Amino acid sequence: MANADQIKALIKTHFDGENEKFTTVALQIAAHEAKLGHTSLADELRKIVDKSKLNKLRIKPLNQNLEGLILEVEPFERLSDLIVSDIILERIERIINEYIQVEKLKRHNLENRRKILLSGPPGTGKTMTASIIANELELPLYVILMDKMVTKFMGETSAKLRQVFDLIEERPGVYLFDEFDAIGANRGKDNDVGEMRRVLNSFLQFIERDNSDSLIIAATNNLGLLDQALFRRFDDVLHYKLPSSQEKLLLLKNRLGIYGKNIDLNSIIEELDSLSHAEISQACFDSIKESILTDKDKVDNILLLKMINDRKAAYQQ
Ligand SMILES: Nc1ncnc2c1ncn2[C@@H]1O[C@H](COP(=O)(O)OP(=O)(O)O)[C@@H](O)[C@H]1O
Ligand SMILES: [Mg+2]
Repeated sequence: MANADQIKALIKTHFDGENEKFTTVALQIAAHEAKLGHTSLADELRKIVDKSKLNKLRIKPLNQNLEGLILEVEPFERLSDLIVSDIILERIERIINEYIQVEKLKRHNLENRRKILLSGPPGTGKTMTASIIANELELPLYVILMDKMVTKFMGETSAKLRQVFDLIEERPGVYLFDEFDAIGANRGKDNDVGEMRRVLNSFLQFIERDNSDSLIIAATNNLGLLDQALFRRFDDVLHYKLPSSQEKLLLLKNRLGIYGKNIDLNSIIEELDSLSHAEISQACFDSIKESILTDKDKVDNILLLKMINDRKAAYQQ
């Protein structure tokens, strides 16, 4: 335990509002505990101090040069909200766990997996996963707007990317390069295709060189377009899939909650065809909204099927 002087100093610096001194005393206590052999308590104390330092960093505004290129997003989803196969869930838990226990890994000269590629159809939870990882680790989430990054002159794009990777180094967080391969994809001209490839290559080189404490997550909807060699630059590649029957059932149950208690959900599953998690969620929310607006306050099979068919109709145009 901390000695009497340390406790007094801790209380005094707190009430005097002396943050720097307070941090020093807290770290002294951690060192004292480590000496006594209480290593896990010492680790915990240091972690609390580090986290509050991080919170201060978080308030610091982004470098002006990066304004409009990076969004800081407040993550709120939990791992329990995500409905995926056990395989994907285990992989996400492993990423989180390795980050939490990074010090232990370092003591054995090992690194946590921190460069992650997520691939799969739209609406299967890739963006959500980045948000969940940030939230579970209490890290800030930064979304890099790759399409905005591509400027007219290649030199400038590289310079911008360099600034992003400087930030990744400076400020620990989860950095999401969402749909990163869509850079310039809707630009028709040949020379733009060449530029896209160059930007993508320099992005991958930056990833390869990165040695920071941040997590880098790249997400793509069309892995098929990407060079297989790219996989090697990542510590882990997670393939997201459209929901299985079991996942569909769980999704309906979660999203409808008490509104769905009169519905035969098993009969609905057959109607969902190849809708994504996002589309099924949306059909549930649409049904709930409709039931509230029509003062029914519960969803029935007919209403839910109507909303599902509306979602499916989007493909049949
Ligand atoms: N696997 C999932 N489990 C639960 N909800 C999901 C899942 N995938 C998508 N959703 C819902 O759909 C929304 C959009 O999904 P998103 O993560 O943006 O998909 P993606 O990035 O793969 O296109 C999420 O915010 C969530 O409400
Ligand atoms: Mg997405």
